[in-house]
Parts: sequence; C-alpha cells; structure tokens
Amino acid sequence: MKKDKIGDPLSRIDGRLKVTGGAKYSGEYKLPGLTYGVLVSATIPCGTVSSMDIQAAGKAPGVLAVITPFNAPKVPGYQPGAARPVRGLKLFNDDKVYFNGQPIALVVAETFERATYAASLVKATYKAEPFETDFHKNFDKGVIPNEGRYKDYVRGEADAYKKAPVVVEQDYMLPSEMHNPMELHVTTAFWDGDDKVTLYTKSQGVIGSQRSIANAFGLEVANVQINSRFVGGAFGSSLRTWPHEVAAVQAARLVKRPVKLTLTREQMFTLVGYRPLTIQRIGLGATTDGKLMGITHESHSQTAVYEEFTENAVNVSRFLYASPNANTRYKVVPLNVGVPTPMRGPGEATGSFALESALDELSYKLNIDPIELRLKNYTDMDPERNLPWSSKFLKECYQLGAERIGWEKRPTKPGMQRDGDWMVGYGLGCGAFGAYRSKTQVRIKLTPDGSVNIQTATSDIGPGTGTAMTLIAADILGIPAERISFELGNSAFPVAPTQGGSQTVSSVGSAVHDVCIALKQKLNTLAGLPADNTAEIEYATILQRLNLPSLELTQESQSGEEARKYSMYSFSAHFAQVHVHSLTGIVRVKRLVAVVDGGKIVNHKTASSQMIGGAVGGIGMALTEEAIFDDRFGRYVNGNLADYHVPVNADAPDIEAIFIDKPDPIINPIGTKGLGEISLIGVAAAVANAVFNATGKRIRDLPITPDKVLMT
Ligand code: MOS
Repeated sequence: MKKDKIGDPLSRIDGRLKVTGGAKYSGEYKLPGLTYGVLVSATIPCGTVSSMDIQAAGKAPGVLAVITPFNAPKVPGYQPGAARPVRGLKLFNDDKVYFNGQPIALVVAETFERATYAASLVKATYKAEPFETDFHKNFDKGVIPNEGRYKDYVRGEADAYKKAPVVVEQDYMLPSEMHNPMELHVTTAFWDGDDKVTLYTKSQGVIGSQRSIANAFGLEVANVQINSRFVGGAFGSSLRTWPHEVAAVQAARLVKRPVKLTLTREQMFTLVGYRPLTIQRIGLGATTDGKLMGITHESHSQTAVYEEFTENAVNVSRFLYASPNANTRYKVVPLNVGVPTPMRGPGEATGSFALESALDELSYKLNIDPIELRLKNYTDMDPERNLPWSSKFLKECYQLGAERIGWEKRPTKPGMQRDGDWMVGYGLGCGAFGAYRSKTQVRIKLTPDGSVNIQTATSDIGPGTGTAMTLIAADILGIPAERISFELGNSAFPVAPTQGGSQTVSSVGSAVHDVCIALKQKLNTLAGLPADNTAEIEYATILQRLNLPSLELTQESQSGEEARKYSMYSFSAHFAQVHVHSLTGIVRVKRLVAVVDGGKIVNHKTASSQMIGGAVGGIGMALTEEAIFDDRFGRYVNGNLADYHVPVNADAPDIEAIFIDKPDPIINPIGTKGLGEISLIGVAAAVANAVFNATGKRIRDLPITPDKVLMT
C-alpha cells in the first residue's frame, strides 16, 4: 500500500479545484434572490455628516434600500452598554466621520450595476473639522499604548549604547503597506427568520467571525453560520470581522434577502487594515571587537483616532542578540486614517528591518563580516525572558545560507563588484517569530470503505493547510492521502484557532495528530489488540467485522506547561544578491536564499511555496510597496493595483527555500514551529543591506526606489 509521510512533497489536495475554477469563494455563491450591496464613502477625513440626500438613489431602478447613519437599523453590539460590545468602527451608528473613505451609506439593489449607479446618486453634506493625516507632522503626539505589554522595556541600563566605543544611531522608515490579496473582501449574508444568519465571508477564522457576528446582533453563537472554505489570500486582512461585514448582515436583515457586499480595490486601502507607517530609531553600541554593549529600539507608528492598533515592532531587539543592556519603547500616533491590522510578519517584519539594517551598518563600522558579527552576539538562551529556547538552529541557518548564496564572493567593501552597468552586492537579514500553539478540536470519522473524514474549523488562506493536515493524518494512520478528506472553513466544525500568527500547523496539526492516535487506539481496542499495538491493522475490516457503520471521535489538543518554561521561536536568515543599475538606480534582486529553522517541515512542497511567497512580499516591502497619502485631503493617491506596486513575476528572482527541518522537541508532538510570518521577516533588510554592499548607498526609507538610489 502506498503511504504518505510527514515531510513528503504532497501536491495541494485542492490545487485542481483552485486552478480549474471549481473552488467557490465567498463572492461566488449564487443564492436565490441574491441582492448586491455597494458602499458610499465619505469624502472628508474628519467631521460629521450633517445631511444626506438619498431621494434619487432610493428611486433609481432596482434599489431595495439605502442605509445611512440617519435611518440604519440599530446594531445591538454597537450600542452603549451592549452585553457583548463590538470593537472598532461602528458603521452607520452615528454621523461621525473619522477618516476619508469611511462608508456613510450602503445601497442595496437587484444587481451590482444598479447598486453602483444608485450609490453615485447619494449626496452628503458635511460639517468638516480639522484633521491630521501627516504622520511626520504629528510624530510628537505619539503615545505609549495602554496595554501593559507595550510599556517601556529596560534590561540593564537604558541607552547604554551611547557609551560604547563603536556606535550606530539611525532612523528607519517604513511606509504603510496594503495586504492586497488577490481576492477582494466579500461577504454574502442571508437570514433565516429573525434569529439565524449565514455568511459566506472571507475569513481567517470562522469561529472568531461567528462570535463577532453573534455579538453584533445579539444572537446565540450557534445561530450564526460562517462559511469560508476558500480564501484567495489575506496576509492578515481577514484576521478580524470588519464593519462592512456587519453592514452586509444588517442589510440582509432589512431587505429580507441575501446580500452580497464586495469591497472595491480602492476600498481595500481603507477598510481592511494595513501595515502602518512606522519610524524606528535604533541605537547600537559595541566594543571594537564586535560585542554588543547596548541596544536601543524606539518605534512610532500610525493608528486610527477611533481605534488603537498595536504590534510587536520593537520586541525582536530584546532577544535576538546577546546584549547586557537593551531598552525599547513603542508609541502610536493617532491620525484620521483607517485602522491598521496585522500584515504578514506584523511588527516583527517592521522591527527586523530596522534592527538588521543597523547591525549591517555596525558591521561596516567594525569591519567585521555581518555573519561573524551575528555569531559574536549569538545567544543560547532568551535574554528577554531568561529562559532556554525550545530549539534554535540559527547558526545552521547562517552557514547553509552563506554556502548557498556564495557569501565568500561578497565584496567586503561596497561598490567593488560589477557586472557591466550593474553593481553587485550581497546582504543578510535575520528574524524571529514566536512559535504559538492554541487549543484546537478535531473530529475524525472512519467508514467501512476505509476512508477517513476529518473536520475542524480552521481556515486555509493559501498555505495549503488541508494538504498539510492530510499528510499528518496519512502518516499517523499509515494510509494513503487519497483516502482522507479534510474539511475546514466552516464554523459548524469543531473549534479551531484563527489562521494567524503562524500557528496553524502547530495547533491544528497537533490535534490531527492526537485524534489519529486516539482513533488507532480505539480500533486496536475494538479489535481486541492492546491499545498501543503498532502492528498494521486494516481499519476497514475491523469496522466491517464488528458491523459498525462508522467510527467517530473528537479530540481536543493544546499546549501545557512548556510555553512557560521555554522560549519558542522560529528563526530565519535571508540572503539576497542584488544588481543595482549604475545609471538608472533600478534594483534587481537576482537571487534570494531563505533559510529557516521552523522546526519539522510537514510538507516540503507547500512549505517551500510558503517561503517563496513570503520572500516576494519582502521584496515588495524592500523595493516597491508604499501607500501614499495626499495630506491635503487625507486620501491615498495610489489606492489601486496600477499605482501601488506589488512585485510581479519579473521582480521575483530565483528564490530558494532551505529548511533546517529539525523537529522542536518541546513545542508539540510533531515538532513544527511555523513558517507563515518568518518567511517575510528579515527579507527587506537582506535586500537593503545588499543594495549598500553593491553601491555604498544606505537607504533607510523603504521602499528603495530608483530615485532614492540615484539621489542618496
Ligand atoms: Mo498573520 S499577519 O497573523 O495573518
């Protein structure tokens, strides 16, 4: 019998469905009586809507409803004193405008075109108030967030770097970046009576969505059904339930028909979060032989005036390198902008760009190879939490990556290597991301034909979750992957965490592992064998012999004490080789080698794809991506995919993913640590450092566009 094992390169179980159009996304359910919702956005960044003229829109052909702050049915979870309040923007609940582009009306019509036309007829008058969208101008208004974990951190002495013989002190800037998944955010909602609602919605966590919608409308959780079987990318933009999703549900209740609400690409720049514009100051101090004496990391990033967004921008500087002294400070600057949300690698990707760039600057000041400098400051325990690592193979990452990229060919002084008109350089950027694991339930069902069905309410936003889970089950059960059907993306399935923070394989995979073992034990017992029997048994025959129609089990799996006793992280070392054109300033990433200690690799094929995708995101961060505000109006000037530049195939070089592939002995039964975020963390610094190595130009403001290369 063919068997599939953990580690095999199994092709995506849903790959065929996806490439043939057979996979149905949330906007593709053609429900009977489906209607279409189109949002109308505010055109001022701050103030109140004083009146709205919806007469013409209401009379336009096919229009069923025009919802505004003046007529919207109340959403219970938006009201003061709500039992289960909904956080964030409360759409149509009052007349306040907090940012330009905030929806102020929702038109529902028989067709999308009619809704779009009617939306163009909605007229609003405003009482405009002064607004602030200029981050630099408002930099000093930064505040330390209320949450305790964002308070100042000091180990040893603060700002000790200033006293060191060799000092680097620099500011690094990262513009706002948009997730821009291929699939637009869309919600299709319909009610069954007054107390049951079903949603097809783009979601990274159907259980979280279920709770949010239940809270918003004061419903029993079980009366809310969330379906999100296929998600066309998200990168964090679907981690939470957004106001437009609540609005779709609100509208469906009002018109008593299914409503589909799809955001436009431009609306995706304001309504579903982004990586916030951030300025970071790094201070590094070292002895002349390269020992770090102090690290200071301060970060300011923008947030919304109506909701505070925070992320771990400075944390990496507390633990990635050994330094007796380290201090961090994190501040947010509230502006009249949409609220940010985690975007792949969230704060760690931001923070590592600054830290790893500064370390590179230090290496040139010291005249020490960047790898050598990192090895000199390597730490075998977590200096922040004072705990041992559950596993750490970062040294191996340096070594493998250096070999693969050809680090020995790296010029030790910048601007020394050329290839015709192109200057050639090499760079290294490292990163770490917490290895998390959350409680997960999985149901398994074996039928007498020998097939196995597994269900859990996890999501798959693209990494190939179902495929990895199938492989784990096949390995434990000792059966071919074809015999297993894995179902996800439905809130009716057993509870699983949101697909975020790189924790899915660790959380859901462990539960799949455990439920498969439980099933085997049960079968052994039924067959009169010892529960720990390891000899092969034909599952189907046991069921047939016992005349059982099926065997079903649900298992819950979670972490224990270990998370308090060990510090758990995935680690990465990204190596880039770039060519920089000496006349045009164009940067081409020629090669990228991503080496990762992510613990055991479950599926080499999808894991490599995950790493390559993250690296491409990192190239975007380094070279092209930037959401640009016009501060006169508080609007993005490039809110579309023509002007907001994501890397295309021609920008993506030969990217190689290398895995240490050593199981973490502590974190979970499989030994996985997670890849989703770490695939991007460190990439931007690797590219920026390579640009310096090629040209001698240190560009600290991302993205590294040709104008900056020429003018620096
Ligand atoms: Mo990820 S930013 O946790 O979706």
